[in-house]
Amino acid sequence: MENLNEEEIIAYLKGRLKEGRFLHSLNVMKMAIKLAEMYHVDIYNAKFAGLLHDCAKNMQNEELIAYCDEHQIPIDDIKRSSPGILHADVGADIAKNVFGANPEIEEAIRYHTLANREMTDLDKIIYIADLIEEGRTLPGLEEIREIVYRDLNEGYLAALKYCIENVAERGKAIHQQSLDALETAANILKE
Ligand SMILES: [Fe+2]
Ligand SMILES: [Fe+2]
Repeated sequence: MENLNEEEIIAYLKGRLKEGRFLHSLNVMKMAIKLAEMYHVDIYNAKFAGLLHDCAKNMQNEELIAYCDEHQIPIDDIKRSSPGILHADVGADIAKNVFGANPEIEEAIRYHTLANREMTDLDKIIYIADLIEEGRTLPGLEEIREIVYRDLNEGYLAALKYCIENVAERGKAIHQQSLDALETAANILKE
């Protein structure tokens, strides 16, 4: 059922996110639609998962933790030491409970930061779009864009590797969910 109200969501995001983050959300939406068209994924789901993926990004660490405690969202050790990661879990919950997002959209938002072992094509598209949207100009991304436009699974693997290396370079622990994701993504390409 297509029930999400774009204007209402945009007003919500505009009121909460910094301008750069708001524009990033629109860019992720655009890229997600483009990839959904390329890879025959539901456009409605891609559009709204992209638009909503960072809807909790404005929340402070304490707010994220309090939200999780209140809504029985589990917090593991890595999330406890880097609570910013929780914007994905909290954002998924807000998308569902505030806006009525369907389970596919909710899941894509939940996995957009750490990924997971089981990723649907929609989940992969949101994960990738978050990294390669047109506003991102980091070195190495143009190469990833080319791979993504050629093959979704290869592009997803390249995006995962890029993000995991980035976390490692910052001296942070890699979450098991991301390692599991990397393992499955590599195996899919071997098959
Ligand atoms: Fe995010
Ligand atoms: Fe994002």
